[in-house]
Amino acid sequence: MAEKSKYTKRSDGRKIEELRPIKAEVGIVPSADGSAMYESGNTRAIAVVRGPRTLHPQHMQNPQKGTLRVNYGMMSFSVWDRIKPGPSRRSQEINKVIEWALAPCIDLAEFPNSVVDVFIQIPQADAGTRVAGINAAAMALAHAGIPMKQMASAVAVGKMDKTLVVDVDKEEEDFEEGEGATDIPLCILSRTQEISLLQLDGKISPEELKEVISMGRKACAEILKIQTAALKKAKDVRGIEK
Ligand code: CDP
Repeated sequence: MAEKSKYTKRSDGRKIEELRPIKAEVGIVPSADGSAMYESGNTRAIAVVRGPRTLHPQHMQNPQKGTLRVNYGMMSFSVWDRIKPGPSRRSQEINKVIEWALAPCIDLAEFPNSVVDVFIQIPQADAGTRVAGINAAAMALAHAGIPMKQMASAVAVGKMDKTLVVDVDKEEEDFEEGEGATDIPLCILSRTQEISLLQLDGKISPEELKEVISMGRKACAEILKIQTAALKKAKDVRGIEK
């Protein structure tokens, strides 16, 4: 008989596939070309978009297509241990994976020699900051009037010992019993349903991974509804294609 999982109850009492309470708002920074906030439980991400504008220095310009540049940062007091401000290995990795997750949403060929800058700030972190950042950034890009081919919605699925759960918080991420905890951030694109981000550094079987993706897809469909509702609420949305 298969061994029972040591993770039987979620720390905050949520159901296995239940997302944390979500808040999403567009247009929170009036001086920016586009902006949005996405909150999942105690994790909050703010995204601000500038551009497209001419990329400098000139030698970095690409006459074939524009560049999407992401700058992610956690605020010093976003977690209990103060975080050293400025770039780190972790933030560089997150910048890249978010760029790759969002790039298929935009037709960069429309902006030769230009850059679209996305600044993501995390004022409060309780795990899942990169996926919250993607959700906020996708809304901010649409709000900035960047023509969007599709939206991006992201969530972290977790494996606590042998139990799969949706939208892990920090307490869950720190679970150490049995096989411990693995978190699997993933991003689903709204039109093509492609996976534009999937990160995993724990042990998982192919069957479990399939289940993770299916749970992630369901959660991302819920998140997309919330992003779309927030965009509809903002009067000046120009970007999203019908
Ligand atoms: O935030 P995300 O899950 O995308 O990335 P992570 O590197 O797996 O970090 C998980 C969580 O650890 C963050 O959301 C923070 O709550 C916490 N963290 C921290 O306390 N100190 C850091 N320097 C980095 C992350």
